[in-house]
Amino acid sequence: MLIILLLSISLITSANLKCETSTNVPKYHLIEKCRRSTLGVAARAKFLSLTSCKRLGIEKKALALNFSPNWNSTGEGEYPCEVLKCAEAEGGLSLVNDTRFDYYSLYANPIPTVNTTCVPGIGMFNLLFQKLNYTNALIECRNLSGTLADVTSEQRTDALAQVLTGASITSAFIGVKKENGTVFHILSGHRLDCTAYRAWAPNHPRRNPYHQCVLLTKQHTWRTTNCNHTYPALCELIPRGPYKRVKSCTAVAMGQGRSQFTEEELQDYEDLTYFTKSEVLYAHQKFKELAPEKVGHNKNAKLPMAKILQYPELRVNPFRDRICKVFSSSNDGDCTFEDFLDMMSVFSRNAPKSVKAEHAFRIFDFDGDDMIGVSDLREVVERLCGPELKLSESEIQGLIQNVLQEADLDDDGALSFAEFEHIIDKSSDFSHSFRIRL
Ligand SMILES: *[C@@H]1O[C@H](CO)[C@@H](O)[C@H](O)[C@H]1NC(C)=O
Ligand SMILES: *[C@@H]1O[C@H](CO)[C@@H](O)[C@H](O)[C@H]1NC(C)=O
Ligand SMILES: *[C@@H]1O[C@H](CO)[C@@H](O)[C@H](O)[C@H]1NC(C)=O
Ligand SMILES: *[C@@H]1O[C@H](CO)[C@@H](O)[C@H](O)[C@H]1NC(C)=O
Ligand SMILES: *[C@@H]1O[C@H](CO)[C@@H](O)[C@H](O)[C@H]1NC(C)=O
Ligand SMILES: *[C@@H]1O[C@H](CO)[C@@H](O)[C@H](O)[C@H]1NC(C)=O
Ligand SMILES: *[C@@H]1O[C@H](CO)[C@@H](O)[C@H](O)[C@H]1NC(C)=O
Repeated sequence: MLIILLLSISLITSANLKCETSTNVPKYHLIEKCRRSTLGVAARAKFLSLTSCKRLGIEKKALALNFSPNWNSTGEGEYPCEVLKCAEAEGGLSLVNDTRFDYYSLYANPIPTVNTTCVPGIGMFNLLFQKLNYTNALIECRNLSGTLADVTSEQRTDALAQVLTGASITSAFIGVKKENGTVFHILSGHRLDCTAYRAWAPNHPRRNPYHQCVLLTKQHTWRTTNCNHTYPALCELIPRGPYKRVKSCTAVAMGQGRSQFTEEELQDYEDLTYFTKSEVLYAHQKFKELAPEKVGHNKNAKLPMAKILQYPELRVNPFRDRICKVFSSSNDGDCTFEDFLDMMSVFSRNAPKSVKAEHAFRIFDFDGDDMIGVSDLREVVERLCGPELKLSESEIQGLIQNVLQEADLDDDGALSFAEFEHIIDKSSDFSHSFRIRL
C-alpha cells in the first residue's frame, strides 16, 4: 500500500544521505490474547500499565513480552509484566493458555520455525543452508520477511559467528556490500564508515575489484568475496507488523453477563459486517470497556473521539483521528457502537481488499476533495515518519515526488481513487497492513 511504498521509498532515499543514526524505537505488537509465552524471562515487574511494560522491554532489549491487563493477583512471585529474551516462532509452540495474559512481540509476521535462531537481546535470524549467490540469497531472505544480517557490532559478529559454528558452516553472506565498486554499505543503507566496528580478516577487504560482497566466518571475521560465488547466508528477520493472527479470546468474552442485543439485532450486525455474532458481542464488550459508565445502560451511547482514541490499537496509529472521522456517522470523530463496529469490521481480516482500499483513500484524503493531492501526501508522510525522523523539507518533497512519479498516471499532480487502487492492487501487503485487531 501507499504506506509501504512511501516507507520503502524513504528507506531508499535515506540510504544515500549522511550518517544519520536510525533510532527506530522497537514496537511490541499484540499477537495473542489470553495466552502467555513460557520462553525465557529477561525481567519482571509489577507494572500495571502496558506502556511501562513495553518500556521495560525496550530497556532490556526484550524481543517479546507477556502483559496482564487486569492484574488482580497478590500472589508471591507473580508479576503482570514479563519481558522475554526471545520471541515465538510461527505456531507459538511455547505459548500456553492463560486468561490473565496477552502476548506481545516485536515480530508480528510469521517467523519460520525451521532453522530460525534467536539471539537474545539482538534478534531473530534464519540460516539459509543452501548455497546461493548474493542476489539470490537476498531474495530468499526477503521471502522470509528478512534481509541479510547486520554484523556491524562486536556483539552481533560474535553471536552470529557462534550461530555459524553451531550449524557447522564455515562462512555465510551477510548484509554488507560494495556499492558502485567503491564504498561498502550495510544493507540498512548507511555507508559502512558510519559505524566504527570492523572485523576484517587479515588482508581483507581485498582490493580485487570483483570482491564486492562480504561473508561472516565462524572465526568471527569478515571476508570479501565475489557476489557471483555461492555460499550459505545469514538472514535477519525484520521486526514489524502486520499482525499475524486475529484470534480474540471469545471464550472469556462470551461468559460475561447477558447480551444487551436481541437475536435479531445480532443477526443484522452479522449480515452487515464481516463479523460473526460472537465477534459482534466481543466488539461491544471492547466498546463498553472504553466507557463502562455510559455504555453499560445504553448500548448505543455515542462516545467522544477522545474516548475512542483510547482503544489500544488506535492509540498507536498515526492516522487515529482520521480513522475516527471517516467512520463517525456525525463526521466529527465521535462514534456510536455501530460506527465503531463498522470501523472494526473494515479493518478486520475478513473485509475484502476493495472495501479496505476505499476507506484507506478516505483516510488519506485529508481535505476531502476526492483526490490525494500534494498536501494530503505531505500530511501522510509527516504522520508516517513521526516527529522522530525529522525529515528535511527537501526529503519530504522528494518522497512526494517519488510517489507521484510512480502512481500519478495522468500527471495531474494528485492521485484519483483509480490511481490509488492501482497502487493497492500491486501491493500484496496491503490487506495485511490495513488491519486493526479487535
Ligand atoms: C479478582 O479477584 C477476586 C477475588 O480474588 C475475584 O473474585 C475476581 O473474579 C477477580 N477478577 C478478575 C478480573 O480476575
Ligand atoms: C487453549 O485455548 C484454545 C481456545 O482458546 C483451545 O482451542 C486450546 O485447546 C487450549 N489449549 C489448551 C492446552 O488448553
Ligand atoms: C535446516 O537445517 C538443516 C540442517 O540443520 C538443513 O539440512 C535443512 O535444509 C534446513 N532447512 C531449510 C528449510 O533451510
Ligand atoms: C517464498 O517462500 C514460499 C514459502 O516458504 C515458497 O513457496 C516460495 O517459493 C518462496 N519464493 C521464492 C521466490 O523463493
Ligand atoms: C552510484 O553511482 C550513481 C551514479 O554514478 C549514483 O547516482 C548513486 O547514488 C551511487 N550509489 C551509491 C549507493 O552511492
Ligand atoms: C558475475 O558474472 C558475470 C558473468 O558471468 C560478470 O559479467 C559479472 O561481472 C560478475 N560479477 C561480479 C561481481 O563478479
Ligand atoms: C545469481 O544467480 C542468478 C541465477 O540463479 C543470476 O541470474 C544472477 O545474475 C546471479 N547474480 C550474481 C550477482 O551473480
